[in-house]
Amino acid sequence: MEGKRDSFRVSTSDDLEVSTYLEIAKEKGGEQPIPEKAPEVDRGAVVVIDFGSQYSMLIARRVRECRVYCEILPHDAPWQRVASLKPRGFIFSGGPASVYEPGVPLAPSYVYETHLPILGICYGMQVLAHQLGGKVALGTKHEYGHAILHQGDVESPIFADLPPSLPVWMSHGDQILEMPPGFTVLGYTENSPIAVMGNEYGIIGLQFHPEVAHTPQGKEILKNFLYRICGCSGNWTPASFIAESVERIRKQVGGGRVICALSGGVDSAVTAALIHRAIGDQLTCIFVNNGLLRREEAERTLNTFQRNLKMNIIYVDATERFLQRLEGVVDPEAKRRVVGEEFIQVFEEEAAKLGRVDFLAQGTLYPDVIESTTPESKASAKIKTHHNVGALPTKMTFSLIEPLRYLFKDEVREVGLELGMPEEMVWRQPFPGPGLAIRIIGEVTKDRLEILRAADWVVMNEIKKAKLYRQLWQSFAVLTDTRSVGVMGDFRTYGHLVAIRAVTSEDAMTADWARLPYDLLARISNRIVNEVSGVNRVVYDICSKPPSTIEWE
Ligand code: XMP
Repeated sequence: MEGKRDSFRVSTSDDLEVSTYLEIAKEKGGEQPIPEKAPEVDRGAVVVIDFGSQYSMLIARRVRECRVYCEILPHDAPWQRVASLKPRGFIFSGGPASVYEPGVPLAPSYVYETHLPILGICYGMQVLAHQLGGKVALGTKHEYGHAILHQGDVESPIFADLPPSLPVWMSHGDQILEMPPGFTVLGYTENSPIAVMGNEYGIIGLQFHPEVAHTPQGKEILKNFLYRICGCSGNWTPASFIAESVERIRKQVGGGRVICALSGGVDSAVTAALIHRAIGDQLTCIFVNNGLLRREEAERTLNTFQRNLKMNIIYVDATERFLQRLEGVVDPEAKRRVVGEEFIQVFEEEAAKLGRVDFLAQGTLYPDVIESTTPESKASAKIKTHHNVGALPTKMTFSLIEPLRYLFKDEVREVGLELGMPEEMVWRQPFPGPGLAIRIIGEVTKDRLEILRAADWVVMNEIKKAKLYRQLWQSFAVLTDTRSVGVMGDFRTYGHLVAIRAVTSEDAMTADWARLPYDLLARISNRIVNEVSGVNRVVYDICSKPPSTIEWE
């Protein structure tokens, strides 16, 4: 016979009585000062409090996949910033620190004062234990990798619709020795007697990582927290994002004029389409053809925006200017600098012709925002400077509009489709701002650009025919500065060497070379040497990133 299970009270309403856990924490001398009065909270999103975990971004992505809006904020974010999101709950990320060391990051007291549900993950769980009066110490047994989690006797909505035992992914050395008062064990593993804990106010700690793919039911657990414990309804969709953004953009812009640099890439394209939806002809796009684009790229981009989306576009063919400035330039960073500077100059000249412009729209995405605010990014070594098309011109004074600032790439694509953009544009692989200039080793000349364009055309064509285009992060040709001997007919040739690069990646930070089928590689190689004059050898790049990078320069 099954033993009786206590039911677990969930806090989703505003009318929570004064939270006992805070009272007890106070008595126990919990670390954070606990002010008497809870601040007013209007509820909406879920906030991920970041303690420096490598998985914080992943947590946010998983939450968004559940159609709940969320943002990652540092553990020392001011309350006003959090309040503006109208939180419905908090998730504490993992982190590299140990809660019992001095000066480590802890949760701000306002989180507890809101009386909202909290999900602490790994270090986040230990923060909960530590701040609410429990005890954390270095574990006698560490747990890294797979473990089997068994549910405890107390029923909790966090495990609703899940089996009594499930595989989870662990990565911790510290352990909870004593739970804070009011908490119950909700789950355990062989090495962690307290692998999941919770109290009746919807505060839950998970020692394992529900956000990683190695915890197969992790998303169900997150969903349970979001829907059943925080009371979110999962109504954050591309359509609701568009409606909200349109309203916000209209308010921000008023009767002003906006310009946007189009690169042909998905980020600037969706930015422009979204702003166009909001303010129509108050938006003017500037599309600079730098002469470093792929075959037919300029025509296709113009077609989409002018014909399909009916936007105001200024098209500038600046090919000659860019190529002149690139004459004799062989250093990759120098190429980037030249292309970046020239772009800003052309852009500023065109913008000046428009008269008064109030706003500049940019396709900044959430990973860029997060990266530029994390301490690691400041400390990390510079490998390549990435010239962003649409980088802020230096001499002009605009306000910035960045409507995609809080979206991940896949969400941008969904928004693009919802806005009616063609799939071909929405699913375009990333293309670097300096374009083909950094895919030609050595000097960039018209002839060499033509060779690369022709080879690249074959690659793109064959990859699309093989229906692999979307699966690959990027696939392209590189024109090397190596020449090699070949034989065509009865003649000796001394031709160019073209390299093919195709990689899979989640975010370009790391990448693996794609295991393309041999017969596909054979077709690509065969077509290139037959169709591109001057090329007599093709090689396939089989290096991952790291140690290589995706681009050759
Ligand atoms: P790497 O070569 O550093 O590239 O592995 C990572 C991603 O960034 C793109 N990339 C650039 N994008 N300006 C850009 O706008 C650049 O200078 C630049 N360099 C590399 C690259 O295509 C890949 O997606």
